Amino acid sequence: MNQTNVVTFPEAMKKIKFAVIGCGSIGQRHVAVLDAEADAQLIAICDVDEQKCIKLAETYPGLVWYTDYQKMLNEADFDVVNVCTPHGLHAPMSIGAARAKKHILVEKPMAISIQDCEDMILAARENNVLLMVVKQNRYNVPIRLAREALESKKLGRIFMVQCDVLWNRYEGYYSESNWRGKMALEGGALYTQASHFIDLLIWWFGDVVKAKTMMDTKNHQIEIEDCGTSVLEFDSGVMGTINWTTCVYNKNYEGSIKIIGEFGTIKIGGQYLNKIEYWDVRAYPLSDNIDFTDKPNSYGKYQGTSSNHDKVIKDVIARLSHEKHMIVEGEEGIRSVKAIEMIYDDARK
Ligand SMILES: NC(=O)c1ccc[n+]([C@@H]2O[C@H](COP(=O)([O-])OP(=O)(O)OC[C@H]3O[C@@H](n4cnc5c(N)ncnc54)[C@H](O)[C@@H]3O)[C@@H](O)[C@H]2O)c1
Repeated sequence: MNQTNVVTFPEAMKKIKFAVIGCGSIGQRHVAVLDAEADAQLIAICDVDEQKCIKLAETYPGLVWYTDYQKMLNEADFDVVNVCTPHGLHAPMSIGAARAKKHILVEKPMAISIQDCEDMILAARENNVLLMVVKQNRYNVPIRLAREALESKKLGRIFMVQCDVLWNRYEGYYSESNWRGKMALEGGALYTQASHFIDLLIWWFGDVVKAKTMMDTKNHQIEIEDCGTSVLEFDSGVMGTINWTTCVYNKNYEGSIKIIGEFGTIKIGGQYLNKIEYWDVRAYPLSDNIDFTDKPNSYGKYQGTSSNHDKVIKDVIARLSHEKHMIVEGEEGIRSVKAIEMIYDDARK
């Protein structure tokens, strides 16, 4: 690998070598996606839980495994490391990876403070590596359709947007985890459940410039909120709201974005932005034969958002190979963290 310039990458035809830190719910999905990707080679995995490593190494023979990520960064030969650990560890692990001259693909949220994000961006720049952030909902079919309508100005001026993340997380989701629900490691439900949604709002309507927030912890024994609502203003002048909760009875109810424009209204809905539930756009009807193929990430007793991690990995490879891609990098990823901090700051002040 050429270490002096981030925009060059190995001999074009060589497989890109990956390693994964954190082999929990989403780390295992990264491992499966990397194993299935023809242009990727998964070299090594790391988890402090030795049993998880052993189990994965049995499923994917040939994998080298570590319980110390710094040792893996120092010893193993790979190009990109996927950071799939609790939020509070994203910054130190990404910075360590940058110093070891590895490109980074960090799970969302990029980190849980603006300062951490800035330190990560700086470390990547200083070491000439790429810092990329997982935002797999950008690839959902309904998101593509809405984006095409917005980019081609079919809705005219946008007035308002409403976003609802109304999900269920059972008590064990928190109590059986050593990081979920903890302020220092999770930081808040917006970082976990809503950051994909906030990323999309910012992508389309600009940075959040004002937020008026109420939030509370109503139904879980946790240090962070499980219910919140915020009235937002975006850089573009669009006004909006976001409601989020993990208190919905029994199962996820809805993950939706409603866009109110001069010449059209769109509701992207379903449980995880997987459907178009309403589309009324002047002279721009929705085609009848769209295949809504996005599937959720399922983790046994609960479901997350879309499982388009395969598309993210393909775009990491495309980015490193100078091909067309839509991967999100650190400078873009920090924008959601800034918005989330602004939303929380208003409630906490
Ligand atoms: N993109 C998505 O849709 C999506 C979905 C789920 C989770 N995530 C993100 O992925 C991250 C992990 O979430 P999860 O649900 O997989 O959590 P998890 O608790 O299931 O897994 C985290 C893993 O990290 C390991 N770990 C902790 N400290 C470590 C260390 N110092 N070194 C090595 N391994 C360590 C744990 O043992 C555990 O196996 C979070 O940031 C979360 O927000 C993203």
